[in-house]
Amino acid sequence: MSNYSPIYASFRSIGAYAPQKILSNSDLESMVDTTDEWILKRTGIKERRIAADDEYTSDMGAKAGLKAIERAGISCDDVDLVICATVTPDYFNMPSTACIISDKLGIHNVQAFDISAACSGFVYLISLAKAFIESGMKKNVLIIGAEKFSSIVDYTDRGTCILFGDGAGAAIISASSKKEEAIVDVHASADGSYADFLVTPAPGTINPVSQKVIDEGLNFVQMKGNETFKLAVKTLTKDVIEILKKNSINAEDIPHFIPHQANYRIIKAVGDALKMREDQVVLTVGKYGNTSAASIPMAVNDIYESGRLKKGEMMLFDTFGGGLTWASALLPFAGENYQG
Ligand code: UT7
Repeated sequence: MSNYSPIYASFRSIGAYAPQKILSNSDLESMVDTTDEWILKRTGIKERRIAADDEYTSDMGAKAGLKAIERAGISCDDVDLVICATVTPDYFNMPSTACIISDKLGIHNVQAFDISAACSGFVYLISLAKAFIESGMKKNVLIIGAEKFSSIVDYTDRGTCILFGDGAGAAIISASSKKEEAIVDVHASADGSYADFLVTPAPGTINPVSQKVIDEGLNFVQMKGNETFKLAVKTLTKDVIEILKKNSINAEDIPHFIPHQANYRIIKAVGDALKMREDQVVLTVGKYGNTSAASIPMAVNDIYESGRLKKGEMMLFDTFGGGLTWASALLPFAGENYQG
């Protein structure tokens, strides 16, 4: 008889951080040619959070990360891998934001690195953490999605500045011997032929910092909004149908559908295509806008802290972003219920 017992990766805890400053639709009315009514009707967004000038991606990531560590019932010393998903790192080249977050948390001498998958970053991290744990290489992985998107938004471009906000979310993915706690499945994909749909042209090897970058505002995010919108609805729906089918689960049996919070109309269209009830679909886009890699963990934290997410309940994540990238994950919440 073999003594082999499988190791499962489990989603052990959630934490998030939203900066204090609120940028409302009426604030935006005085900055660009837009109205509260237009923004609400076309996106569902009422307000978004903006980090302070001296509050960086790593500060927000560290705050979310500490909560996730505490709620997992472990200490910083137990974390053996730190990975951060961000497209707004503290530094564009080096060091990685994960290294800075690790230092802020007092986590030293463990592997730490960033990934870049835009809004799909957090679900990409789940696939990485799952692989590290199931291979036996790591036991407690801290994954963080953190963005200071306001640092790359052009507040004269009404096509983008109404959408994005700042924030961070984090989770501990731990080794478990219990199959019922296991992350069931993760799909993660990309298609670089749509790279120009969502792009920040500088700084990078194509456009190193120069006067041209400043003059032409190439350091700001550019988006083909309507084209991205249409592809998002199609891709998100298809991906969820596939992951549910592959795992023989019906959409109606998922208590918590947590889609990327980019635009209420995208979420509604995907939810309707899947015949999801309103009580299944998690919505935070109204109060946080699109926080890119932080969007999904901030939404999970929201239902956790409101007592809606309970131990053992199944979650379905679905996300889409620059790259283009997309990803979905099917997983039970393996942490303890919120204690206040
Ligand atoms: O997180 C990564 C994935 N990102 C996304 O999923 C974003 C997807 N895109 C969107 O959310 C939407 O495309 C937007 C909210 C960005 C835009 O909404 P839309 O319904 O696609 O509008 P549109 O770009 O087709 O523009 C319609 C009209 C245009 O005016 P004309 O040409 O019809 O006169 C725009 O200039 O709306 C105008 N417009 C605005 N009007 C008032 C665009 N932005 C604004 C604005 N306020 N902020």
